[in-house]
Amino acid sequence: MTGTQCFFFIGCFLLSCALGSDWRVSMPQNIKVLAGSCVLIPCSFEVPDAYKARLAQVTNGVWRKHSRWFTDGIDVFNSSVSQNILRGKIVGNLTERNCTTILHNIPRNYTEKYYFRVGGGFLYTFPDFVNLNVKASPDKPLVTPVGELMEGTQVTINCSAAVPCPRLPPALTWVPLSLGASKKGQRVNQDGTEVAFSTLSFKASHLHHGQRITCAANYPLEQGGSSDQAAEAVILSVLYPPKNTSASVSLSQPVASGTNVTLTCNSSANPKVEGYTWFRRRGSEVTEMRPGECLTITVTEGNTGLYHCEARNQHGKQNSTEVQISVKGEAWWIWVVAVIALLLCGSVILGLCRLGKSRKSPSNLRGLSVDESSVYANINTVTKSRFMADNEAVYSNEDEAVYNNEDMTYPRKTGSSTGQSGAAIDNYDLYINHTTPSCQRRDIGQPAKSKS
Ligand SMILES: *[C@@H]1O[C@H](CO)[C@@H](O)[C@H](O)[C@H]1NC(C)=O
Ligand SMILES: *[C@@H]1O[C@H](CO)[C@@H](O)[C@H](O)[C@H]1NC(C)=O
Ligand SMILES: *[C@@H]1O[C@H](CO)[C@@H](O)[C@H](O)[C@H]1NC(C)=O
Ligand SMILES: *[C@@H]1O[C@H](CO)[C@@H](O)[C@H](O)[C@H]1NC(C)=O
Ligand SMILES: *[C@@H]1O[C@H](CO)[C@@H](O)[C@H](O)[C@H]1NC(C)=O
Ligand SMILES: *[C@@H]1O[C@H](CO)[C@@H](O)[C@H](O)[C@H]1NC(C)=O
Ligand SMILES: *[C@@H]1O[C@H](CO)[C@@H](O)[C@H](O)[C@H]1NC(C)=O
Ligand SMILES: *[C@@H]1O[C@H](CO)[C@@H](O)[C@H](O)[C@H]1NC(C)=O
Ligand SMILES: *[C@@H]1O[C@H](CO)[C@@H](O)[C@H](O)[C@H]1NC(C)=O
Repeated sequence: MTGTQCFFFIGCFLLSCALGSDWRVSMPQNIKVLAGSCVLIPCSFEVPDAYKARLAQVTNGVWRKHSRWFTDGIDVFNSSVSQNILRGKIVGNLTERNCTTILHNIPRNYTEKYYFRVGGGFLYTFPDFVNLNVKASPDKPLVTPVGELMEGTQVTINCSAAVPCPRLPPALTWVPLSLGASKKGQRVNQDGTEVAFSTLSFKASHLHHGQRITCAANYPLEQGGSSDQAAEAVILSVLYPPKNTSASVSLSQPVASGTNVTLTCNSSANPKVEGYTWFRRRGSEVTEMRPGECLTITVTEGNTGLYHCEARNQHGKQNSTEVQISVKGEAWWIWVVAVIALLLCGSVILGLCRLGKSRKSPSNLRGLSVDESSVYANINTVTKSRFMADNEAVYSNEDEAVYNNEDMTYPRKTGSSTGQSGAAIDNYDLYINHTTPSCQRRDIGQPAKSKS
């Protein structure tokens, strides 16, 4: 029995020695320090019962760099010495086993292990240490991810940044400032280190969609000035139902009966519009037409009316304003035909008269007329061939009539030199992509999109 007890006692004693169970220090494992600023090291310790009585005599503490042993380590701060490698202060009450310390103006190359050594009633260097990681510029602040926001909801975005030196906390600023109100604060983490935060609140609007929000941290330094700015940005994604829904028509109205026109529905939504429905209204009668972003109709008296589209996604729907589809009166056409016929007759008669005159002085007039026509023909072939060459890929499937329309709509292109025409085509492509997302509005001479 005595042998077992003895063995037990010895084993216990060895174990407690090996683990140093009663000598214990608590401090963070790692602290990021900003060079030129201070660092607060939260610290508390325990002593074996046998030493508790002598705690009252504990008067000083030392921070030893690199090694626990005085042969290898360097004492960078001793609280009972006035000239130290590092300026500092033990802010905790050592007799209450609080060894919390502030070390000032940490040089850049002071990344090391730091051990605490207590002195006074007894001398002891604790085996646990803190890693001080000294950095020239601060880490980016942390911005809470916000995910997808529903329009109209109140949003709070939290930005937080470490405060290694509580006397000189970072200033946190939001860009853009105008977004909403922010609330600032400082909090102590479980391990005793501190963190500064700023909480920005605003109501999500579709106008915020795609907007970049930045939280910037500016750390002042002990010698004045401040360290590099550290900033983190988030891009807002706001979900919203269709907005700015509009309907447009490819040809200005009225048009001749039998003309094909394309109606295009345009709307902005997030997620993008899932479906479009077209309606025709005639008085109080509303007819639902084919669905789709574009609606091509062959205009007749039978399908004139006010057209509008409805765009929808999972968050809602919206109707566009109405566009009028109408047919030019028949009578108007008869008049036009009559006038053209009259003009033709007139010119034929005039031509006959000229023919009669020209026989009297043939050499003069014939020479002039030949010159004129050849000049005209040259211009025509030059402009047309250039245009065709520049736009071969885009237009290869188009017919003559389309080219002629293009010539009239975009005269700049035909006149541009080869050097400039590249740029002109780029602009033109942009224009197509922007206005005709997927509709083929061939009837006004715009080519189908060549790229997808
Ligand atoms: C130690 O002292 C510091 C500075 O006075 C204080 O903020 C901290 O709360 C104390 N820690 C404990 C465990 O009492
Ligand atoms: C430290 O704590 C002891 C015991 O609680 C107290 O008597 C002493 O005044 C304290 N010292 C300081 C500087 O606060
Ligand atoms: C740290 O750098 C300074 C000069 O910047 C130098 O004087 C000092 O010896 C260096 N200390 C260590 C521990 O490397
Ligand atoms: C701090 O320095 C003083 C004076 O040199 C010394 O007596 C004391 O033991 C040192 N403290 C520790 C904890 O080593
Ligand atoms: C923002 O972050 C700080 C620090 O992590 C935290 O104390 C605070 O409660 C957070 N605020 C909100 C609104 O989430
Ligand atoms: C709707 O149009 C207005 C005015 O043109 C514009 O300010 C707004 O950003 C547009 N909304 C969307 C969702 O595109
Ligand atoms: C109008 O569209 C219809 C059907 O797509 C087509 O058959 C017809 O040839 C087109 N008419 C004109 C003038 O382009
Ligand atoms: C859009 O118009 C159609 C036809 O007038 C109607 O049935 C529908 O409810 C309207 N949609 C919205 C969102 O107002
Ligand atoms: C469609 O709407 C967007 C924004 O609401 C606008 O930028 C674009 O020019 C419009 N397109 C057409 C063809 O109206």
